[in-house]
Order: sequence, then C-alpha cells, then structure tokens
Amino acid sequence: MQKPQADSIDVKVDSILKIMTLEEKVGQMNQYNGFWDVTGPSPEGGNAEKKYEDLRKGRVGSMLTVRGTEQVRAVQKIVVEESRLGIPLIIGFDVIHGYKTLSPIPLAEAASWDLEAIQKSASVAASEASASGINWTFAPMVDISRDPRWGRVMEGAGEDPYLGSKIAIARVHGFQGEDLAAVNTIAATAKHFAGYGFVEAGREYNKADIGSVTLHNIVLPPFKAAEEAGVKTFMNGFNELNGIPVTGSNYLLRELLKNKWGFKGFVISDWASIGEMTTHGYAKDLAHAAEMGVKAGVDMDMESYSYIDELVNLVETGKVDVALIDDAVRRILRVKFELGLFDDPYKYCDPEREKNVIGSKENQEAVLDMAKKSIVLLKNNNKLLPLKKKGQKIAVIGPLADDNNSVLGSWRIASKDSSGISVLDGLKQYTGNDLMFEKGADLLTNEPTFINELAFNTTDTSGFEKAINVARNSDVVILVLGEHGFQSGEGRSRTNLDLPGVQQELMEKIYAANKNVVLVLNNGRPLVLNWAANHIPAIVETWHLGTQTGNAVAQVLYGDYNPSGKLPMTFPRNVGQIPIYYSHKNTGRPVDPQPGANMVFWSHYSDVESSPLFPFGYGLSYTSFNYSNLNVEKDSYALNEEVQVSVELSNTGDYDGKEVVQLYIRDLFAKIVRPVRELKGFQLVELKKGESRTIKFSLTSKELGYYDQDGNFTVEPGEYEIFVGTDSNASLKTHFILKE
Ligand code: GLC
Repeated sequence: MQKPQADSIDVKVDSILKIMTLEEKVGQMNQYNGFWDVTGPSPEGGNAEKKYEDLRKGRVGSMLTVRGTEQVRAVQKIVVEESRLGIPLIIGFDVIHGYKTLSPIPLAEAASWDLEAIQKSASVAASEASASGINWTFAPMVDISRDPRWGRVMEGAGEDPYLGSKIAIARVHGFQGEDLAAVNTIAATAKHFAGYGFVEAGREYNKADIGSVTLHNIVLPPFKAAEEAGVKTFMNGFNELNGIPVTGSNYLLRELLKNKWGFKGFVISDWASIGEMTTHGYAKDLAHAAEMGVKAGVDMDMESYSYIDELVNLVETGKVDVALIDDAVRRILRVKFELGLFDDPYKYCDPEREKNVIGSKENQEAVLDMAKKSIVLLKNNNKLLPLKKKGQKIAVIGPLADDNNSVLGSWRIASKDSSGISVLDGLKQYTGNDLMFEKGADLLTNEPTFINELAFNTTDTSGFEKAINVARNSDVVILVLGEHGFQSGEGRSRTNLDLPGVQQELMEKIYAANKNVVLVLNNGRPLVLNWAANHIPAIVETWHLGTQTGNAVAQVLYGDYNPSGKLPMTFPRNVGQIPIYYSHKNTGRPVDPQPGANMVFWSHYSDVESSPLFPFGYGLSYTSFNYSNLNVEKDSYALNEEVQVSVELSNTGDYDGKEVVQLYIRDLFAKIVRPVRELKGFQLVELKKGESRTIKFSLTSKELGYYDQDGNFTVEPGEYEIFVGTDSNASLKTHFILKE
C-alpha cells in the first residue's frame, strides 16, 4: 500500500476538523477502558452504558484493553457505523514485553545490550498485538532509575541514559517498523514523561525532586532519543516533578516536548492522571484539572472523564482556547491516518492473521533468542558451569523451579497465565542426567495476580527435609529462587531487597548439604545477595524471561549458549546504599586521606563498603576475555573532531563467546561537575576461543558533551579520560585533550 504523503494527511485532517462539532473534537481526546465483552449484549451496570452511548455519539477517540479481532471489530463497528462522522478508534494496549508470546521483561532485555534482538523482540510483540486488533502500545517505558526499591525498574532499561537511549530507539523501531500503515506495525509510546523513575524513596507514585543537571543529562535523553526515532505518542507520568504534577507541566509537555523538540505526535495521560491533579492538590476540581491538562499539552485523557465532561464548557466559557483543542485533535487524527485506519478501520481485525501469527514458531524462536541473550552469569567458581550433559545426578530445588507462571513477568495481561516454560521443564529436555525435583518450600500463600498484594510463606519449612535429602544425594544442585513475576512492576515497591519468604533459610540449608549449588535467580529488579555472593559457587541472573524461560536457562546452564549478558543496573550491598550507580560523582573527598589512621572525614559509610555488590555492566562468560593496547589516535583534537579509539580484545578461554565491550569517558573538569564515568559506547563482539580482534570506537561531540542547568548542550575543551573494558570498573585507560 502506497504510504500516504504527509502533506495529503494534513490536508485530510484539516478537512475533517472543519466539519467536526466541538463535542466531536473533544470526543477524539477521550479514551475509555473497555472492561466488558463488547461482542455480548449491552452490559448492565457500571459505566458501560455511558461508554456505549458515547461511542455511538462520537464522544470516544480511543479504547484500551479491548483485544481480539472479534471484540475490536465490534467496538470499531459501533463508532464507524453509528457515529455521525465515523472516525475510527485507535486501540491501545500495554504490549510491554510481548503480547501472547512473551519476551523477557524489559530490564532483562536491557541486560543483553543486543539492540538488534531487542528491536526484533518489539517487532514480534507488534506482530501479535496487531493481529489482535491493537494498533498502539503504551511502550517503550524509558524511565531511567537508580532505585531498585521501585517495582517498575523491571519495565525500563536500567540506570544509564546512553544504554537507555539506544534501547528506546530500538524498541520504537521494533514496534513502528518502517511503515506504520503496515498491518504488522503499531504506534509506540515513550513513557512516563518525565522523572517517574526518581520517585522519592522508591515508593510508587511518590513525588520526584530532580535537579536540572540530572533531569537534562539522565532523565530526558531517552525520551529525546525516542522522539528523534519518530515515536508517535508520549505518555505523561503520575508523578509530581519539582512541585508540579507532570500531567500539568507546561514546561515538559508544551515548551520542551512540542515546541523545543518539535514533537508532532500526541500526548496521552496516564490512567486518570488528569483527574488526579485534584488529589495531588494542584487542581481545584475536575474542570480545573481539565483546563490545566489541555493547556499543558495533554492531548488525550485516559479514563479520568475530565475532558469529555468538562472541555466543551471550558471552551464555551472562554477558559480554554479552541485552538488548543484543534491542535490536540489534529495530532490524534494524523496518527490514525498514518496507521491507515481511515482507509480501513478493520485492517487489524483479520481472524485469519490472528490465528496464524500468534504463538508462531518464528515468534517463539525470537523470544527464546532474546531470553538466552538476557541471562547474566554473576559467578562461576571452580567452573561448576556449564553442567556436564550426562552421568550426573542433578537436584532441582526451589519454589520457582517448576513455576511456569511467574516466569511470564508482570506486564503480561494479554498472555495466558502459566503458559511459560519453567526452569524444570527446560532442564528435563536434557535427558543425559538424572534429575530429581523437590520444591523445598512455597514462595506465596495466596494466588498471585496483576493487581493484588502477594502474601509470602514465612513459616512453612515442611518441605525442607526432602529438598535437603535430594541435595545431599546429587552431584549438583540447581536452586531456583527470587521474586515472583508479580512482585515487581507497578505498585510493587519494596523496602527490603532480600530473597523473600523462607528462601534464604532454604538456600543456606541446601548449601550445607551440598556445596555444588548453582543459584538461578528469577527477579524483576536488583536484589541484595551478599550471603549468596559469599558462599554459592555459581550464580546466574535470569530475571523473568517470558514464555521460553526454561529453554533459555537450560541452554545456558548446559553451555549450548555461552552467557553474554551484562547488568543494566547496579546490585547494591544493602538498601542503605540506594541510590547507587556507576556514574557517580567524585566528591571533594573520594578517598581516605590517611589509610589505616581510622580517620572518618572522607566520602564513605562506616558500616559497609561504598562499592556495589555487582556493578553496572558486569557479567561473566564461560570463556575469558583480555583487553590490551587501548589507543587514541592523537593526543589532542579540535572541539568538533571525531576522536578515534581502538582496543585489542582476545578470547583467552576455552569457549567461543560474546563480549560486550564497553567504553566510558570522564571529563576531568567542567562547568558542571561530570561523573567519574559515563558510558559512551559499546559493541557486542563474538570471538572464537583463541581469536583476537581490534575494536574501534569513534567519539563525537554528541558523546563528549553534556546539558547545562538550562538544558543547553555544550562540549567543553579540556582533558578527558577513556576507559574500555568488560564492565563499569574497566581499568584500562587512556586520555586525550580537546583543544579550544
Ligand atoms: C498504568 C501505567 C501505564 C499504563 C497505563 C494503561 O497505570 O502507569 O504505564 O500504560 O496505566 O494501562
């Protein structure tokens, strides 16, 4: 299908706008959640009647959570055939890490550092969502966070804006593809604009106070990257930023996003966040909230009813200029045209495609590939891994070992519960060893759901005895512990990052019975793992890897895939260190000026090391890599000259493997104090055992510069250091001068 020309779309949009009534315009700015089976009789009760009525009257521009070609066709039919203008709905959904065939949670995908695989994962999600009638996802979430107490770190790309920006671009391209009008691509959403990842104390929905240097250099870059990648929509967050709820932030939404960045898509509020400005204590009432939302630049209202109930009156009484309404509606209609919805409102409602695409072999293979690449090897003493493929007695123990539901992660509301492959199921496919399974203990005492609190087993250790016996009578123990998939995600903040329930006690007893333990972690955030790190010989971080979890974990444990993941977020020694991240500042007293003198006047804690347990960028391999000959082509460069860097990488171990070569810079002195390290380049390099290769990087102003307090980008002359290595503690360094 010929891609509609941008100018012809604007012409068409204006021709529709001209004939719309004010109420119909406001209708386009209204999004309802579909909580009923639209294919059934008109439901009784709730506000479904109102929603049906509004659909018929053209007072709805979008629905969310309606899914499946039958349901979507039914709701689209109401609007297209019964409303006066028949403007098709855009159908949104949280396709966060897959639709029915689930990818790993986004934080796990970020651990792969594999932008191609991440883009492919998003395109798989888009192919299945679009086959189910959906043409818009509320993803990628690009909130940077340094606080694992916040449950939504599972949904993002971790602590670093450079990695987060690259991943944002990959995911936008994966969802939207080359042609948004294609039947297998969907509009994406950069969310939650902005600062949600900095909620105070990691407490969900809390306020965020962020200084301008952090805002411009850490929080905003992934959003800017998504905008430059052509993302079609933005979603504002729930949070207050420096005293202003971002839903009502004219600075963020209109001045920065729409004016300075030139964003042409539309902004949707988060669920009821417009109305919540009254609860924040920022809006007097719903009408005032609607007025501030539309003036700030929120174009569509998700489920607060403020726009549909208040905007017409606000315009008619002169409080809101109709030009703001027209601008919002233009933005919304433009995206609907680009999706091809005006050409064919039912193009995403093909039951044949739904049947053939969802769960396809190709999709299963893609999410398996993504899952393998997301696994991080944290420890492997005495080469306990990879496992031998035959002749071993292997005990598989732990409350998550046979769990095929938890592995799906938190944001899987379109998938089928318990449709994952558990670690045990994956291991069973390797039939050369004797496998014995004992759960050891339950993790939960209630049924886990997306919206309810989880209840943990903190007393029942009745299963320990059997587990200890199989551990005692085996060569190796695979111990699968961690968090349930619903223990991270929205509404899931924790103040304690230990292994929940009786898992720590179980681990210590199993270790006492057999020292050859491989700890397989299932978790949606960094955890506190000091005891395990000090005792357990092998530790594998496997997050929540989605549908193909068991196959991915088994292929890594048996060495059919050599782990290549690197941590996208720092693992602390305890919660007291949080926020803890690699790109910290030097301070004026970074080191003990009199080592051994027990003097306290320097930046440290008296009760724990300042370093993390596992740093950003860290991850081991079954092989080993050596870095040497780090070179910068010249000692000095002009301000806008490209700095050419090279390093020698060698695979010095016994396995072919893949290394994420990381490049960090440090600007030694500047008008704004720069971090001790900043990631400014990375490359995935596959080397056969014994192979060496020269890896090249080039640094431009884009990598060397920073944003000042006013958000202006600047590159300063001066001395820079470069570090290249296997994680953010890379010690191989060189330097160069940027001349005036
Ligand atoms: C939720 C989330 C947001 C999601 C939206 C629709 O509360 O904050 O990320 O896209 O509501 O489900």
